[in-house]
This record gives sequence, C-alpha cells and structure tokens, in this order.
Amino acid sequence: MQFKRLSDLVSQGQLRGKRVFIRADLNVPQDDAGNITEDTRIRASVPAISMALQAGAAVMVTSHLGRPSEGELRPQDSLAPIALRLSELLGRPVPLLKDWVDGVTVAPGELVLLENCRTNKGEKKNSDELAQKMALLCDVYVNDAFGTAHRAEATTHGIAKYAPVACAGPLLAAELDALGRALLQPKRPLVAIVAGSKVSTKLSILRTLADKVDNLIVGGGIANTFMLAAGLQIGKSLAEHDLVEDARTIIELMKKRGASVPIPVDVVCAKAFSAQAEATVKLVADVQADDLILDIGPQTAAMLALQLAKAGTIVWNGPVGVFEFDQFGEGTRVLAEAIADSPAFSIAGGGDTLAAVAKYNITDKIGYISTGGGAFLEFLEGKTLPAVDILEQRAS
Ligand code: 3PG
Repeated sequence: MQFKRLSDLVSQGQLRGKRVFIRADLNVPQDDAGNITEDTRIRASVPAISMALQAGAAVMVTSHLGRPSEGELRPQDSLAPIALRLSELLGRPVPLLKDWVDGVTVAPGELVLLENCRTNKGEKKNSDELAQKMALLCDVYVNDAFGTAHRAEATTHGIAKYAPVACAGPLLAAELDALGRALLQPKRPLVAIVAGSKVSTKLSILRTLADKVDNLIVGGGIANTFMLAAGLQIGKSLAEHDLVEDARTIIELMKKRGASVPIPVDVVCAKAFSAQAEATVKLVADVQADDLILDIGPQTAAMLALQLAKAGTIVWNGPVGVFEFDQFGEGTRVLAEAIADSPAFSIAGGGDTLAAVAKYNITDKIGYISTGGGAFLEFLEGKTLPAVDILEQRAS
C-alpha cells in the first residue's frame, strides 16, 4: 500500500508552522456517568499528536464519539472526557472547541480538540460541501483513525480529497503495515482463528480466508456449524443450519488447496448456558441431544496449539469458547498461550479477542493488537477501506 506518511513529512521538515488536521478514532467505551472505561484508542492516538506538535505544527484533532444525531451536540456526545484524558497523557491543557467547521484559531506548537465530528451536518453522508470547508482549515490532513477507516465520512474520506496534503498518521500506518505483513505477504504457514457466535456475520471473512490461509481454525457457534457440515452431532448447541452448505464448501475448497479446517475431536458441554453450569468434556461422538457445546476440548486445544506453534503467521479474531465463564475458557486460554509462545508473527483484533488477550495476560506477546473492530474485520474480508483508498489515490 502506497500512501504518504506523517513521519516522512516530519523528517522532511514539512510541518513547521503548518496547520495540521488530525482525524483520530477516540471513540472509547464509557460508563453511564460518562467515565472512560478503556482508553487504548486515546493512548494509541498520542504519538501522531506529539509528532505534529514537536514538528512545530498548529494542531487540530477531531474524532467521532458514538453515533450522535447530526446538528446537535448533546452533553453525552461531547469529547470533554476525552479532552481531559488526552491532557493527562500529553501533560498539557487540551482546549475543546465547539462549532469549528467555519474556522479554527490555533498557533504553531499549540493543540485544540475539535468537538465530535459526527455532530456536523453532512459528516455521515460524506458531504462534499462539509469536506471542502474542513479542508480549508488545514495545510496537512492526517488520518490516524484506523478504527473508522471502513467508513467513508467527511472527516475520513471527503476532506482527504480536498486538503492540500493528505497522509496517514503513525497508528494508521502501523495497523496497515501489520495487517499487510499478516495477510498480504505472510510467512507461512498462515493460521487464522475465526470464532464467534455466528457464521453469518463472518461468512465473507471465512470465504476470503479460505483462499489464503493454511489452517482455518473455527470456534464458538461457527465451529458448531462446521461440525454439522462434517456430519457430527452438536445437540442443542448454537449453529446456523442454513449455512451448513457454505461451511461444507469452505471445507472442500481448503482441502483442494492442501489446506485445512481442523474439526474438533472433543468438546466441553453443559446442559445450560450459565456461569454455574457444570462443564463436561466429551468426545464429539458422545455429544447428546440435550448438550450445549461451550468450548473446544483439551485434545482439540492441544492439536490446535501444535499448529500454532508451527505457524509463521497467526491472525486471531474471536475466542473459541465462552471464556467469560472460567469452566468454558480453557480452550481459549490454551490457544492464547500457544499464540503467545509461538515464534509466528501474530495479530489480534476485535472486542472479544482483546478481552481474551487481557484475561490471559498475553498483551506483550502478541505481535500486533489492532485498535479496529469493524475496520479489522473488513480488512480480513479483503475489502477496500475507503479512508485508506483515498490516501492511496492522493499519493499516486
Ligand atoms: C468502532 O468503534 O468500531 C469505530 O470507532 C467505528 O465506529 P462506528 O461503527 O460507529 O462507525
């Protein structure tokens, strides 16, 4: 992928005295009182801001927060809590500016945070008029919002068409470099773990990966559908019966390429879905009509761990069991530790996956942890991310 990088502009001394507009993804989870409950995206956005400030630019940063209605800024839509956290991280005040589309005053070496960009009329529909106005605010537009790269909105796409210079910030560049390394030029064997409750939400990812990976490890409800496709009984477990044929096609396609979708040989069952449910390990042939499969079994986990140990690249999206309940978390724990111990380059993304990474304490042992949810999944699907596409067009 060819796009301009903020780091190059900095090393060429092109930012001194320039007005720099950074689109970050500061969309972080908050509790009912508005307190930030997880600040990874804010911390991940600091390097671009610091880089631009140190280079002597006048810096404007904006982001969306949630999905507000355009044309009004309700208190719960405000970036105020984010301004506070950013100012703690940067060790300097971060003034927050409302109604900024028609003009922003900021001096070189100074920073302002521009209120929730999704409250501006035309943002979501990628209005050209709004994009052109915002482009007038800056000399250099920086997109550092990987989490929103799958959205074509006025601050992620339109503005990049009209700003004098459009480039990628260090976070966006790092995400694209890591994803490119994992999926475009992977060291083989390439192993992907795609798990979650439903095949339907990840069908296009499974289809895309079926052409690329050497082992496609499925888990959760997705694995149950694949077990049905392999002719196994799954009791009353979650599965999508109308997608069994798709699962069979994927298994066949992989087989033809000499690749595989490993099907569990044992599973962990319960009679009810609950934190108190008793967990019973069973061979897949012993699953009863009233069983719920809630995790892969120890033999399966050991078999998959071996594949992960031999992998050159690992892409991980989704826990393989109901890891929120400890008795159904062993499969995910064993795979998490196998990924951590594997010499492979690994990349993990998606909310549940990151919760598992945190629970099993392997954050430092993952090659790259993506800040993207939907954007990460769309990249895995092989889709073009509009925010990246426009940066590539501007670089050519
Ligand atoms: C996310 O949280 O995945 C991104 O910030 C994008 O948010 P959106 O789904 O509201 O566009």
